[in-house]
Amino acid sequence: MRTPAVVAGLFALVVPITAGLAQDRDAGRFPLSSLELATLRQGWGTPMVDRSVTGQPLSIGGRRFASGIGSHAPGEWWIELGGRAERFVAWVGVDDDAGGRGSITVALWADGRRLFASDVLRGGMAPQQIDVDLRGVQRLLLELGTAGDGRDHDHADWADAALLMASGQPTPVPPPLEAPYLLTPPSPPEPRLNNPAVWGARPGRPFVYRIPCTGRRPLVFAVQGMPPGLTLEPVTGILRGRVPELPGRYPMRLAAENAQGRAETDFTLIVGDRLALTPPMGWNSWYIHYDRVTEAYIRRAADRLLQSGMADHGFCYVNIDDCWARRRGDEPYRDASGAILPNAKFPDMRGMVEHVHGLGLRAGIYTSPGPWTCAGYAGSWQHEEIDARTFAAWGFDFLKYDWCSYGQVATGDGQQRLTAPYAKMGAILASLDRDIVFNLCQYGMGSVWEWGASVGGHCWRTTGDLGLEAGGSLPGFYAIGLANAAHAAHAAPGAWNDPDYLLLGYVGDAHSMGEGRPTSLSPSEQYAYMSLWCLMAAPLIFSGDLERLDDFTLNVLCNREVIAIDQDPLGRQARIVRSEDDSLVLAKPLADGSLAVGLFNLAPVPRRLAVTFDELGSPPLRRVRDPWRQVDQDADGDSIAALVPRHGVHLVRCWPQE
Ligand code: GLA
Repeated sequence: MRTPAVVAGLFALVVPITAGLAQDRDAGRFPLSSLELATLRQGWGTPMVDRSVTGQPLSIGGRRFASGIGSHAPGEWWIELGGRAERFVAWVGVDDDAGGRGSITVALWADGRRLFASDVLRGGMAPQQIDVDLRGVQRLLLELGTAGDGRDHDHADWADAALLMASGQPTPVPPPLEAPYLLTPPSPPEPRLNNPAVWGARPGRPFVYRIPCTGRRPLVFAVQGMPPGLTLEPVTGILRGRVPELPGRYPMRLAAENAQGRAETDFTLIVGDRLALTPPMGWNSWYIHYDRVTEAYIRRAADRLLQSGMADHGFCYVNIDDCWARRRGDEPYRDASGAILPNAKFPDMRGMVEHVHGLGLRAGIYTSPGPWTCAGYAGSWQHEEIDARTFAAWGFDFLKYDWCSYGQVATGDGQQRLTAPYAKMGAILASLDRDIVFNLCQYGMGSVWEWGASVGGHCWRTTGDLGLEAGGSLPGFYAIGLANAAHAAHAAPGAWNDPDYLLLGYVGDAHSMGEGRPTSLSPSEQYAYMSLWCLMAAPLIFSGDLERLDDFTLNVLCNREVIAIDQDPLGRQARIVRSEDDSLVLAKPLADGSLAVGLFNLAPVPRRLAVTFDELGSPPLRRVRDPWRQVDQDADGDSIAALVPRHGVHLVRCWPQE
């Protein structure tokens, strides 16, 4: 990162006549571009001095600017003024390098108060001028919003932007720090069953399912109404065998007992043509292992799902992402029969999957309909049938099918060009003697939510990669989440919108495919992330480091009441009740007649948020429960209201009856 202050100081000494920056400072005018940029957080790329985020001359709505900062929404920059500033002046807008696309909002916050909010500024529009009084302000926040439609092309310029100081100088500072706070109560020693109410399977297919249950071991499990073809291991709670041939509902009563107590719950196996009746839960290797992934890591991941207690909360898929096949150039990619070859890091695929199944968990694999995967490994193009059969023979239960290089070989026009590869693989998977959950990954092209289910998909990514770009005022998960929330009408049991993984705990940076490091999200942001994914009935696939799960991360990932909102058998995604630039209200109807409601504070400061029962379209809600803390709350009045932390959530589950 350059240090303009030092550079400017040197110039002032050596070439005082041309040092415009130093002259500005003498006059108390501090161009933003002269400040240290290290604390500026932005949603994509790095901040640029006197250039757009892609390095072009600054230009908004055809108007050129010589100085300023090229940034990208969402963005956030805190500046300490110490009460000595007079004004802030700037021109703001979407840089013309976005080709007329993109939309942003710009806001100024002073000591927790919003001083200025721009219009929605779209690509191609004229710049908006800012000139605000800052007298008395201690700490200023410059904020860039995505205008609620995702962050794509949101190239944002702070042009001719300067702080005018009466005395002293502005000092950029990091965003406020929040200490971790644990909300989820520890699981008690007595058993608690955490299975979803329903599970879908195809007739006659192999079956493995470990009943998720917390409580002190040893536990003894029992199942009443076990369908023919299945057996139970009473000590592990693993169901194995084959699904009945006869389609229909197979209601079971599950029980778990230990010295401390007993729990019982219903579990219905629904035999038919639908899988993933609740959103898949598990772990994926991508954001922690990238191309370093090995068979040993996958075996170990399965062990860790058990040891960490995550499997006791329902996390059961252990999914390899990209980089298990042979890398481009490392021929042969296939054996003489055409079967795809794993690379040297996966010496025994079948043995690895057996290990996962042995623990009662399920295994997932990844490929592309194109000749190469996104990371440049062999894909399934022209080998779809044999690859699907190979995956089934190895025992896999989940396939992520990632578009990647398919564009180079795609045929057909329009929608058909997009649907064809997925329809082909969907039909093959449905014909196999194995239930394989089909995860479409093509970043939302052609409104995949409208047709994903019709090609046999069980979940489909609705956006580009979430990555770690928690850069701005609004962390990346909000931008992705807001985009995903819009497709609520298309979610149903067996057909889920997928906003990408849970990137919590230790995760690696996607751009550098780096080693894991602690997430940059604040504790409140992490509670909001998990709440948002659960309200959206998203697949809950953790993609962080299973070896470094601290108490805080586990408390976010493993709250049975929060997960129950995601896994609810009604299978509805929360609808957007209200979406504003600084707040979001979602409401998800649940099978028992209750409503899960999330009040999200998108603002960079704590705020009180409220939603009335009228606005929720609901009868008066008499019983209100906080699923994070797992306690009932006072229910009175005609609304749900709370003081919500910066970027945080207030999540409740409410029932019309007491
Ligand atoms: C794409 C996908 C990611 C990941 C990588 C692997 O970017 O969207 O989720 O699978 O490919 O290369």
